[in-house]
Amino acid sequence: MKKLIIAIDGHSSCGKSTLAKAVAKHFSYKYIDTGAMYRAVTLFALEKNFINKNKIDKNALMTAFDNNEINIDFIFNQETEKSDTYLNNINVEDKIRDIDVSNNVSKISEINIVRKNLLELQQNMGKNGKTVMDGRDIGTDVFPDADIKIFLTADVDIRANRRYKELKEKGKNISFTEIKKNITTRDYIDTNRKHNPLRKANDAILIDNSLLTQKQQTDKVVKIIYSVLKK
Ligand code: DC
Repeated sequence: MKKLIIAIDGHSSCGKSTLAKAVAKHFSYKYIDTGAMYRAVTLFALEKNFINKNKIDKNALMTAFDNNEINIDFIFNQETEKSDTYLNNINVEDKIRDIDVSNNVSKISEINIVRKNLLELQQNMGKNGKTVMDGRDIGTDVFPDADIKIFLTADVDIRANRRYKELKEKGKNISFTEIKKNITTRDYIDTNRKHNPLRKANDAILIDNSLLTQKQQTDKVVKIIYSVLKK
């Protein structure tokens, strides 16, 4: 049986992780959420006061990486049947989804030293295959030879509305406008940054899920994977 590497990239809040989790579950593959890793570094920077009024102390961040002060792991949670993100042995799965982290994460992910460190970690995590990894640069930079590449997108209002409902259900008090602004800003920064910008790899399959249910999008990708496994 082939041990595939499946790369799922795309715009912010378009359901990459939902798709990646469902696909990983179907094939009993490992799921790696690389956005969570950038979010964990952002949380670290916020907690250490490395971010002040939009200015980031890059040297302090670099020193922290050099001194191995930023350790990120994924640990499976039996109760939720999902992997949780750990920063220096502390479960930060909820904290890294806060708007404060969301509003700063694109700036952190523009920094080359951050990308270099996380890219190496991601390549290590996925090197044995049987891995579904989602992010922005997986098919282009982390695993340019991935067996299957998906580029996911959806209409921005639909994305903002989905995220709004999700956060509302979790009891978070945030407006649709603020969410939409966060999504469009992140898309802009992710697409226009100098290092490893978000772009569709030439050999990636484009899926717009604006009008697809979660099941429909999963079925589509599962079918693509079976076709590669059968080859
Ligand atoms: O997937 P997400 O929305 O949780 O990712 C958070 C941010 O991290 C996103 O706005 C850009 C950055 N990111 C990145 O630059 N490269 C990746 N491979 C994954 C995420």
